[in-house]
Amino acid sequence: MRAVVVRGHGPAPDQRVETVPDPQPGPGEVVIDARAIGVNFPDLLVIEGKYQFLPPRPFSPGKEVAGVVSAVGAGVGRIKVGDRVMAQREYGCYAEKVLSPEATCYRMPDAMSFEEGAALGLAYQTSHFALVDRGAYRAGETVLVTGASGGVGLAGVEIAKALGATVIAGVTSPEKGELCRRHGADHVIDLSAPDLRDSLREQVHAAVGKRGVDIVLENVGGEVFDGALRALAWCGRLVVVGFASMRLPEVKANYLLVKNIAVVGLQWSDYRERDPGWVQRVQAELYALYAAGKLRPHVSERYPLERFADALARFGARGVLGKMILTPG
Ligand SMILES: NC(=O)c1ccc[n+]([C@@H]2O[C@H](COP(=O)([O-])OP(=O)(O)OC[C@H]3O[C@@H](n4cnc5c(N)ncnc54)[C@H](OP(=O)(O)O)[C@@H]3O)[C@@H](O)[C@H]2O)c1
Repeated sequence: MRAVVVRGHGPAPDQRVETVPDPQPGPGEVVIDARAIGVNFPDLLVIEGKYQFLPPRPFSPGKEVAGVVSAVGAGVGRIKVGDRVMAQREYGCYAEKVLSPEATCYRMPDAMSFEEGAALGLAYQTSHFALVDRGAYRAGETVLVTGASGGVGLAGVEIAKALGATVIAGVTSPEKGELCRRHGADHVIDLSAPDLRDSLREQVHAAVGKRGVDIVLENVGGEVFDGALRALAWCGRLVVVGFASMRLPEVKANYLLVKNIAVVGLQWSDYRERDPGWVQRVQAELYALYAAGKLRPHVSERYPLERFADALARFGARGVLGKMILTPG
């Protein structure tokens, strides 16, 4: 089979697609013939050696795939050959065939395309755990999503809206704001405005009043984080999801005390590794919201597997809307 193989960390264009042996399923594992592969910002960090967890080399990057099960190992019972599934892995999905534990495989609804299946995975899981578990969301609260037009952000907008929130989308252009409105945002604020430390809060107040927001799903870091923290309501929660700006913010503990607010972190892959049954239940909830017409993954760009580096370059160009997909073969 063909697969992207990282032999040494470095820029994505330096990595190659190689012919490698087909994977064979061990006990509890399945092999998936890939039809659509989700592209995520962390894939780029893993390839460049900048991610918090780096696989032993050589490895194939890629954290999510949708396809058809072509082989199952001993002891596999829930998933069968021929099933249409989505799978979540720490790495290994930029390939024509993907090996996955059965526990992190999810049978897709019949009506869902492989593209939608690959798109309705990591980004939605991340935003769901950020909002519901780490953010302790209560129905009717106000939620600000930063980096809202990206993969994780747009999923956060949709999920928050589906669960009854008033949603503010933080974006950097009118076009990106329009996309967020189409996916459920009630208000849009401009994260390209000058002096975000003050101007972000002013925009939030103009949208929902001086109380501020109950929850921030914070995907960007840097000045966006600083401004969003100041936009929190009494007893508000800011969930640190990512640092798309590549700038790590700092928090003064006295500020949390004085404002009666909390900053909490989210590392979604920990849930997948420590409690796959919980992740299965959340995926079932996401599929139910999809079936009810409340989630509509936005796939904006498609690339053949061989052009994975062109897809990843889009993150640096800040041109990504929703999700990008790689197609093998
Ligand atoms: N915690 C977890 O478990 C977890 C899981 C998955 C991903 N993540 C992280 O979540 C973040 C988002 O991932 P993603 O896949 O959604 O990436 P993405 O599709 O590239 O989205 C990133 C978003 O951030 C915005 N952004 C980037 N730099 C910005 C800046 N300086 N000011 C304002 N907005 C800025 C982008 O807007 P523009 O397009 O306008 O630049 C875009 O909307 C990444 O940091 C990723 O590593 C965390």
